[in-house]
Amino acid sequence: RNPLTSLSGSIQVLKDETNLNDENRKLMDIALKETQRLNNLITDFLLFAQPERGVKKKINLSLLIEETLDIFIHSPECQENIQILKSISRNLFIEGNSEHLKQVFWNILKNAAQAQPEGGFIQVKAQKENSTKNYSPLRAKIIVKDGGCGIPREIQRKIFDPFFTTRESGSGLGLAITYRIIESHRGEINVISQENAGTEMIVYLPLISDKS
Ligand SMILES: Nc1ncnc2c1ncn2[C@@H]1O[C@H](COP(=O)(O)OP(=O)(O)OP(=O)(O)O)[C@@H](O)[C@H]1O
Ligand SMILES: [Mg+2]
Repeated sequence: RNPLTSLSGSIQVLKDETNLNDENRKLMDIALKETQRLNNLITDFLLFAQPERGVKKKINLSLLIEETLDIFIHSPECQENIQILKSISRNLFIEGNSEHLKQVFWNILKNAAQAQPEGGFIQVKAQKENSTKNYSPLRAKIIVKDGGCGIPREIQRKIFDPFFTTRESGSGLGLAITYRIIESHRGEINVISQENAGTEMIVYLPLISDKS
């Protein structure tokens, strides 16, 4: 909760309880919509600033990805002209914050859809593999691949910077938050992309034993 919550609450009450002409009602709606937009921005920014907040628990990452994908497919963020392909290994367990991790996959999926407004595909793969990290012998490798516009080579290293965006209405916080959350789970994220061909975002997260 931040001050904007009470601000938008107050505007809502004023809008409902005062006799407004059409013109002023429109202005009230704009005020409400803009507070909502500002609220989203601040929520994103707080998450970017403090990804360590919140508790980490044992999570079934396979189910978390399935769920996030399912909600995404049925949301307005995903156009109907996008084909979804998936191959997700079962029972990948990690220690983490599920709300934050859902945000990670949501942000990546949203970018993949936005990269192909005329339609295309999003392929999601998740599997187990060996890791050389001393804190975990196994890791999950999650690949989200799209057939969209791709990312020019010279900007690939900037996409994780806060506020870097090439989209008119983008905040540029999506991948910055994603990066921070993955970092706080001792994971990694890489990008492989070719202009006019598509993009692969590859996420690695350390696995825990499914017996613990
Ligand atoms: N799958 C993708 N295909 C093409 N370009 C991408 C892809 N993912 C990210 N990008 C590029 O990286 C930039 C930064 O992405 P990021 O998600 O951080 O911000 P955004 O999408 O512009 O805004 P926001 O996510 O905050 O709404 C995008 O503006 C876009 O240029
Ligand atoms: Mg984005």
